[in-house]
Amino acid sequence: MNFKLESTDPKSKARTGTLTTAHGEIKTPIFMPVGTAGTVKGLHQHELKNDVKAQIILGNTYHLYLRPGIETLEKAGGLHKFMNWDMPILTDSGGYQVYSLSGTRKINENGVKFQSHIDGSSHLFTPEYAMDIQRSIGADLIMAFDECTPYPCEYNYARRSMHMTHRWLKRCVDRFDSTTPLYGYDQTLLPIIQGSVYKDLRKESAETIASFDLPANAIGGLSVGEPDEDLYEMTDLVCDYLPKEKPRYLMGVGTPINLLECIALGIDMFDCVLPTRNARHGTIYTQNGIMNVKNLKWKDDFTCLDENGTSYVDSTYSKSYVRHLFTVNEALGKQITSIHNLAFYLWLVGEARTQIEAGTFTDWKNKMVVQLAQKL
Ligand code: GUN
Repeated sequence: MNFKLESTDPKSKARTGTLTTAHGEIKTPIFMPVGTAGTVKGLHQHELKNDVKAQIILGNTYHLYLRPGIETLEKAGGLHKFMNWDMPILTDSGGYQVYSLSGTRKINENGVKFQSHIDGSSHLFTPEYAMDIQRSIGADLIMAFDECTPYPCEYNYARRSMHMTHRWLKRCVDRFDSTTPLYGYDQTLLPIIQGSVYKDLRKESAETIASFDLPANAIGGLSVGEPDEDLYEMTDLVCDYLPKEKPRYLMGVGTPINLLECIALGIDMFDCVLPTRNARHGTIYTQNGIMNVKNLKWKDDFTCLDENGTSYVDSTYSKSYVRHLFTVNEALGKQITSIHNLAFYLWLVGEARTQIEAGTFTDWKNKMVVQLAQKL
């Protein structure tokens, strides 16, 4: 993996760059649609590529390990071939899903024992095993195994957990360095900063993570229920300790406003289930604010779904028709809103990039966050 920093905004810490992986280039800032179990829910791969204009997607170790399982993924020749996606993929390590999805789980220095949310079966993830599974999945970018602390989180727990995440990172690096990719192309390991909402812990974690000198860095443990001020304060703080020449990935964030504010703080990469999950509940994001297509207000509104939308679904279908699809619970409704929301997120980060390059990002961002907060 290679990252080239290209331009910086004069009035904020926003930047643009190009990240090159074995499966192609990613122009940053970028949003990565979440394809948890080897599919971005409801979308064909060609729609992701041509309509949403995704440049990289995300998969989850936890889900893919449980189903279809690593044997099948290895037989398929890795996730890219299995799902027929020839562009970059990033996999999360399971260090988040294990905590948020599995039933009972036991964390100790060795790793996490957990029960599958599917059949209750018992499994053990260790930092080493998380590396091995991600070798089998074969994503271009893979994540260290960490503990994502909840919010709120007591100081002493956050500190102990953060130190364990740092020790786990050393084990991840050792395993990663002593193994080779299975499918003939390079993989890159990203470490994850923790430290909850405590400034001294975040500083210590950012310095420790940066000292590992890996090709990119990630920030975890945010967007777990803390107020936006904490999200921004912690992001701002850690970015100051991270090297400028390496990409920064803020995990699990966020709303369109969160993306713009965090781009301004120096973040290059994002992922979040919000655009797809909300789409399936009828909530769509537009430049003029949020709207719920299920609202009675749209019953006889035959204007197009989003007059400023960049995807074909925006001009092809009316608000009234999409509302109808939700009313009768037709799958096409969710597919339309999912394509719309993802295309909107990719438009937003692409436009942020254009504005940074033009030196106009901050004024544009300040105008956009007001518009985005509106309710339609
Ligand atoms: N996704 C969102 N937050 C996190 C985190 O802290 N760790 C991991 N592994 N994934 C995440």
